[in-house]
Amino acid sequence: MCGIVGYTGPREAYPIIIKGLKRLEYRGYDSTGVALQNGGLNVYKKKGKVAELEDSIIGKNLHSHIGIGHTRWATHGEPSDRNAHPHQSSSGQLAMIHNGIIENYNQLKQELINKGYTFSSDTDTEVLLNFIEEIKKNNDCSLEEAVRVALKRVTGAYVILLMSADDPETIIAARKGSPLVIGVGKGEHFLGSDASPMLEYTKEVVYVNDYELAIVKPDELVLKNLGNEKLTPYVQRLDIELAAIEKGGYEHFMLKEIFEQPQTVYDCLRGRLDAVEGTITMSGIQQYAEQIMNANRIVMVACGTSWHAGLVAEYIFEELCRINVEVEYASEFRYRNPVINKGDVIIAISQSGETADTLVAIENAKSNGAIILGVVNVVGSSIARMSHAGAYTHAGPEIGVASTKAFTAQLAVLTMIALKIGYMKGTITQKRYMNLLKELQEIPEKVAWTLKHSDNIKALAEKYKDAHDFLYLGRGYNFPVALEGALKLKEISYIHAEGYPAAEMKHGPIALVDENLPVVFVATKDSFHEKVVSNMQEIKARKGRVISVITEGDETSASLSEDVMVVPEADEILAPMLSVIPLQLLAYYIGLARGCDVDKPRNLAKSVTVE
Ligand code: AGP
Repeated sequence: MCGIVGYTGPREAYPIIIKGLKRLEYRGYDSTGVALQNGGLNVYKKKGKVAELEDSIIGKNLHSHIGIGHTRWATHGEPSDRNAHPHQSSSGQLAMIHNGIIENYNQLKQELINKGYTFSSDTDTEVLLNFIEEIKKNNDCSLEEAVRVALKRVTGAYVILLMSADDPETIIAARKGSPLVIGVGKGEHFLGSDASPMLEYTKEVVYVNDYELAIVKPDELVLKNLGNEKLTPYVQRLDIELAAIEKGGYEHFMLKEIFEQPQTVYDCLRGRLDAVEGTITMSGIQQYAEQIMNANRIVMVACGTSWHAGLVAEYIFEELCRINVEVEYASEFRYRNPVINKGDVIIAISQSGETADTLVAIENAKSNGAIILGVVNVVGSSIARMSHAGAYTHAGPEIGVASTKAFTAQLAVLTMIALKIGYMKGTITQKRYMNLLKELQEIPEKVAWTLKHSDNIKALAEKYKDAHDFLYLGRGYNFPVALEGALKLKEISYIHAEGYPAAEMKHGPIALVDENLPVVFVATKDSFHEKVVSNMQEIKARKGRVISVITEGDETSASLSEDVMVVPEADEILAPMLSVIPLQLLAYYIGLARGCDVDKPRNLAKSVTVE
């Protein structure tokens, strides 16, 4: 996700753009830039947040009545000055910003290289911009026509804003798969990823649709389709406030990110998983696939929620790849002088890619000859750069301190790696492999189903919000989910909660059980289900209050539970991506009911970059 802003009209463009970018920083913040036009193009861009860009260009020529600005969430090319947007074409005559992924950019880039083009960045954006310029030059056509022709060749998602050095008032915009809003003022127009950059100037907006092109001047907005047919812009009046927009209409970032999960899991699988062809394409892993396959040991190293993802991955890798897997808290692994053998594979799991314990743990392991794979969300982060290879989770910026969408994206990536390696190794049958690919492809829809059937959880939160303690129990793949559910509740509502393997209760913790103790079972239908049902009966017999995450239609578990939260049927290996969702919501709504700051819980930070 990136944030884009544009303006053309009588006002000074720069202040509007820079303020708009600050409002869009929740969409991405690893580099920023602006392009202004006053007799030529002035482009200012750098790695870092908007405020850093602002400080770096004080005193520069910022006068202009037209401009575009961008705050980046890197997908191609790590965060750096050279990869920051806006990009300029080879001639320097065009400047463009882009939000999205051009999936066939490599092919377009090769065509341009064959025509003598060179590139100053690693981005797909620069390729598209030069492709547009090449078409304009070759066909001797208008910029608008060149954009239309180019976009017909493009596959992937985009929203682009384009300016030319020889046109002091026109911004050309187009979208497919990424959001674009145009604010309609009096003799001026605003453009943005959402309405937050324009709300203080106008509440009259046009939402541009996929495959539409907008030619925007101060006093004219022309909307066309890629077939060059004029469309009538539908102007609507917004009646929402600024704060609500940044959260996409949700009350908190945490809730927004929970509900983003159908899309973020889909984004994680996109371009990698092909259930029809039976292929998993992970270029970042490919070159080490043999070493992973032949590894004697894989060590998952992480903290917190990412550690829980590693625990799920342990069960998946051992089941599918028959490779010994250990899961280590990074803070322990870095200090206890662990045995590291050459050829060991370390998988570092981290949303932020900046967790100090995880970073140092892999530095140590790397110096001892281990192969480091990073499963990271923030592109170009320290852990990503420290790793030999890896795969990004593409979950977009996770603003809420409690990790939610990053967790399910981590599971999706780790599952794809395990499937790939297991298939290469022959430790999984073709049939099971193909079935799991097909089921994995259906997970985004099943996540959406789970969210759609979660309406009762808010009432559950109201019912249990005053409990002093919670137990979370699960077996097998759902044991780490029990731990994750307990962590979510602790860090959001400040209620003490513990996760345990369900069978572990009789070794002590069952002494805690009485009529005041809510016990949450993660009890989806799997090969451990019968045993979990027995554990439920043990708790019920001691008057514990049983709340269960169950598979839709599981009457047995429902009959033993005071309250249930339902998920659809799924292979047990994939079930954690579903069974965690109700627990995320339960924690969110209990925290809310207790008046906690669910996006910024006390004592916590989003990224623990200190020991
Ligand atoms: C999870 O909700 C917490 N915010 C925390 O445990 C987090 O998972 C942990 O600090 C690891 O962070 P990372 O994934 O960015 O490395």
